[in-house]
Order: sequence, then structure tokens, then C-alpha cells
Amino acid sequence: MSQSIKGFSKLSKEAKLEWLAQTHFERPEAALDLLKSYWHPDASVQKRHDEFIENTVSNYYLPFGVAPNFLINGKTYVLPMAIEESSVVAAASKSAAFWLERGGFKTEVISTTKIGHVHFIHWGDAQRLHSVVEEHQERFYAATEHITANMRARGGGIVSIELVDRSADEPGYFQLEARFETIDSMGANFINSCLESFAQTLREIVVEAPAASEADREVQVVMSILSNYTPECVVRAEVECAVAELNEGGGMDPVEFAEKFARAVRIAEIEPYRATTHNKGIFNGIDAVVIATGNDFRAVEAAGHAYAARSGCYTSLTHCAVENGRFRFWIEIPLALGTVGGLTALHPMVQWAHELLGHPNARELMQIVAVSGLAQNFAALRALTTTGIQKGHMKMHLLNILNQLEATEAEKAEIVAWFADKVVVHAEVVRRFCELRDIPVPAPKVTRN
Ligand code: MEV
Repeated sequence: MSQSIKGFSKLSKEAKLEWLAQTHFERPEAALDLLKSYWHPDASVQKRHDEFIENTVSNYYLPFGVAPNFLINGKTYVLPMAIEESSVVAAASKSAAFWLERGGFKTEVISTTKIGHVHFIHWGDAQRLHSVVEEHQERFYAATEHITANMRARGGGIVSIELVDRSADEPGYFQLEARFETIDSMGANFINSCLESFAQTLREIVVEAPAASEADREVQVVMSILSNYTPECVVRAEVECAVAELNEGGGMDPVEFAEKFARAVRIAEIEPYRATTHNKGIFNGIDAVVIATGNDFRAVEAAGHAYAARSGCYTSLTHCAVENGRFRFWIEIPLALGTVGGLTALHPMVQWAHELLGHPNARELMQIVAVSGLAQNFAALRALTTTGIQKGHMKMHLLNILNQLEATEAEKAEIVAWFADKVVVHAEVVRRFCELRDIPVPAPKVTRN
């Protein structure tokens, strides 16, 4: 009974809800009640959330957790993490506690430059185009002075503007490739505004300069947009200890553990099937902090995966070396993050997260986020190469299963205690739950595609 509608965005919020409930739900009142139960009780806070996007009808909750004991360059942090996956915060906390005892994480920002392009087509003389762009560099800067004034006052701005000839790959295709320093803002709006101004200046200088043909005077701007690939905005995080210190009662000999761990990383370096899952686990840690701190996790993911494929073969974002009795494990990853502007100034929970972290600037946040990715990968590989991932994962997932079964608090406590020394398997949880309630165990559902 799904229907289409014209002018939905123009309807009032109440009218939108009414239309949705009446046209898409068997029990309209229940559907409305559910949406409204997720509204913030303070109408002004709700209004702020409503205005983040178009057609807001409610809020979508994600758990907001914290992982303490992250020692980074000698300073201790509690990481804010917004994520739905059961085991991620537990894994982060475990990793943090492990490395707290072994010197913590060391980090370094390698570079912070961001890149954007005016993509355009030009059929005239390429040599003349080069000269025009070179001779009129100042015009690009002058035309953007009103856009860049604040950024320049903070020490950032436009770093360079270059013409790139891509006509060998696509006939007539050129780029103005610009580099930017955006200090503590992620800078997307700043960069895109500069690029649109560059496109206009380019059109003007190409028309004005002496030309031998009509084609020389023409550019067709296809688009002006920042690149989310930020290989010049990179951070490194590392942990290191003596191999002998890797023994923490897990039962495996530390030398054997170090070698097996390094081999697991090596497999991710050479096998894209494994690298994808390996990096996904890294982004479990990264995205959670990126979301909690109000940054754009899609941009961060896109950059990370592009960086992982920069050699032409998709590979691991982390690396490991076991040499001379030392274990080293590190990540190098592009992270374009902001600590001012965007959601950081608007979302109350994001502001709380920034305060929890001690109001880091963008460089510090890059380091914290990289550490979160490295810690998460360490926890995943440690589990994978020793006990297997399901033991810890299912333990954390147990409460989800019990909630699905609508178990009472007393039943939950009893079943959690029962599984304390057992591997959690979904069917076993159901069986134990039914036993406790003295009801028949349902027959497994058979589904056919
Ligand atoms: C699950 O979300 C992430 C892992 O699969 C990562 C990995 O395999 O390294 C556990």
C-alpha cells in the first residue's frame, strides 16, 4: 500500500507523520507513538535535531559508550564511541588497558593538507592555458580573499593552485588542483567555496588573455569539488613492547603469539579478501569516535579505503614487525577531521564528547581516532589468533539475544551467569531461556530463497 506524494518536504511535521502513518502502517497510532517516543523532551533540542536534515520525523538512537584508559603520548583519554556493534567498546577498553601497562600509544601527524579540484574541459592550446594559469595566480587568491580571511587569520588558507593536464586519459580534460590547510575545521564548505571561485576566475582569465583561436578562450567547467581522498592529511599511531611482555595470561607463549599476530597482519597485507574485513574492524574503532565527535564517517571511510588501495592492490591499513625481541604494531591512515564548525557546534552530545576529550584540536583528534582504529585492530587480531572471535563477540551479543526474547532482568541475570564459562550460541540461549520459563523450545524456522 506504499504510495508516492508530491511536495512532502513542504508539509508540516505533523502532516508528514500523519501521511506516513496512514499510508504505510497497519496500526497508524502505534507507528506514531513509537516515532514520538523517540523525540527529545526539550522541544528546543528536538528542533535543533529536526533542522539538521530535511523531513526529520524522529531521532535514531545509537548507543553512546566510553572506553577509558587510552594512554596517548603520555596523556590519558576516555574515548567517546557511538556504535551499535556489541563488542566494539569492550574491545577498545581491553586494548587500552593492555597498552596502558606497556607504555601506551605513540602518535604523530604526518601532514594535514587537503585537496580539491576544478574539473574542466578545454580544447585550446594547452601551453597557453598553462601560462595563463601561472601568470594569474594572484587573481585566484585575490578573488577568494573574503572567503579565506578567517582561515588565514587562524594560520590556514590556500596552499597552492596548479594546472594538471589529464587530456591523455580523457580528451580535453584538465584540472585546477588546489591544496588547502583548514586548521581545526574539516573544511569542506571552505574548500568548495574557494573552488567555485577559482572556476569563475579561470573562465575570466582564459577569456581575457591574448588568444589565437576561439577554443583558447573557452573552458567548460564540469564541476568544482573537494576530494575526500586525503593522502596528504595522514596520521600515524604505534604501539611497541618487548615480545616477552605480550604474555598476559592468555595461555599462548608470547613468541608464538607475536609471530602468529604478525602473520595475521601479513595475510591482510597480501590478501584483499582478508584486508577488507581487517580494515572493517579498524573502522569499527575509527567510525565510533568519528561519529561521537560529530565528524563525517563516510568521508573518513572513503579516504581510508582509497588509501588502502593506493598501490593498486587493496591492502591492510595496519602493519606489524617482530624484530630483535621487540613487537611493533602501527597504523598510517588519512583522517580529515574537524573540531570546529559543523555538528561540533550544534549537537549537544558531540559537544559533550569534545569536552570528555579535553577539547582537542583537529591534529590531536586525528591522533586519538587513529589510536582507536589501531586498538580495535589489535583486539580483533588478538582474539582471532588466540581464542577465536566468537567467544568475546557472542558474550557481548548475549544481551541482544535475550532482549529479542523479551527476557526479564532476573532471567537475563540467570542466563548470563549460566554462560559465564560457556561459548554463547544463539540456539543454546533460546533453549536455556525456554527451559527457564518451562515452555517448549520452538522448532527452527526453515527459510527458502
Ligand atoms: C567485526 O565487526 C570485525 C572483525 O571481523 C574484524 C577482523 O576480522 O579483523 C572482527
